[in-house]
Amino acid sequence: MNFIIHGSAGRMGQNLITAAEKSGHTVAAGIDIFYKDHPATAAFPTFPEIADCTVTADCIIDFSNHMTTVPLLSWAMDHHIPVMLATTGQTEEEKAFIETAAKTIPVFRASNMSLGIATLVSLVKTAVCMFPDADIEIVEKHHNQKLDIPSGTALTLAEAVKSVRAEAEFVIGRHENGKRRKEEVGIHSLRLGGVVGEHEVIITTGNETITLKHEAHSRAVFADGAVLAAAYLAECEKPGIYTMDDLVATCK
Ligand SMILES: NC(=O)c1ccc[n+]([C@@H]2O[C@H](COP(=O)([O-])OP(=O)(O)OC[C@H]3O[C@@H](n4cnc5c(N)ncnc54)[C@H](O)[C@@H]3O)[C@@H](O)[C@H]2O)c1
Repeated sequence: MNFIIHGSAGRMGQNLITAAEKSGHTVAAGIDIFYKDHPATAAFPTFPEIADCTVTADCIIDFSNHMTTVPLLSWAMDHHIPVMLATTGQTEEEKAFIETAAKTIPVFRASNMSLGIATLVSLVKTAVCMFPDADIEIVEKHHNQKLDIPSGTALTLAEAVKSVRAEAEFVIGRHENGKRRKEEVGIHSLRLGGVVGEHEVIITTGNETITLKHEAHSRAVFADGAVLAAAYLAECEKPGIYTMDDLVATCK
């Protein structure tokens, strides 16, 4: 397969180049506004913006900035290329555009490309079902350059809780005085040095506590998952939104 890497000069973009080549795939082109500063991308054509790209590919892998989501998907629709969208932090309008694009092309969407996180999501649902009255708190830690708060993965974990506890109400960064309400689920974001990504869901009845935690040791885990998902997506013929659940189903 060959891929266009959107955000190729970024932290994830650089890991993706390695992951794609390690898996026997080819990088057809890189897109990045800082492309000239990164000699590692010299092995393939690079363009500053998607609108400048003259190359086609089996799939686009996007790890860039949410502000590029609309122009990227528009270009992909015009060229009939599936998009593996790993960038997080989209606005409500950008999320609505993803839904629109998915009517024309296959779009894979995952706030976290790690198979470990997919497993964590499943374990969280089981534990929340088991303890319907327990207090739940979600804690995420990332490096101090991360733009979005809370992380996309913390929101995915919140959705997992909500899917089995409809009354859950999420409080991002609790800061007011007063007792914690029963239906409240806190989401807490810590920004520390170079932390790659840690997510913890704490579930306690008062008598016992379950702590479910995932720790990414290196960005390679996201890059490997993204390449796997892109190769899967490139073979999906039907337009639509594809997720980690679809990918995990192929691994079973
Ligand atoms: N889904 C996942 O598993 C996962 C994992 C890690 C990071 N992310 C997300 O991926 C995104 C990128 O993360 P990163 O750590 O690599 O960030 P980064 O800042 O290191 O890299 C982003 C790159 O995108 C480029 N870029 C920005 N706007 C552009 C545009 N208009 N056209 C072309 N290139 C543009 C930047 O120049 C930069 O090189 C973030 O949204 C992050 O939250 C997702």
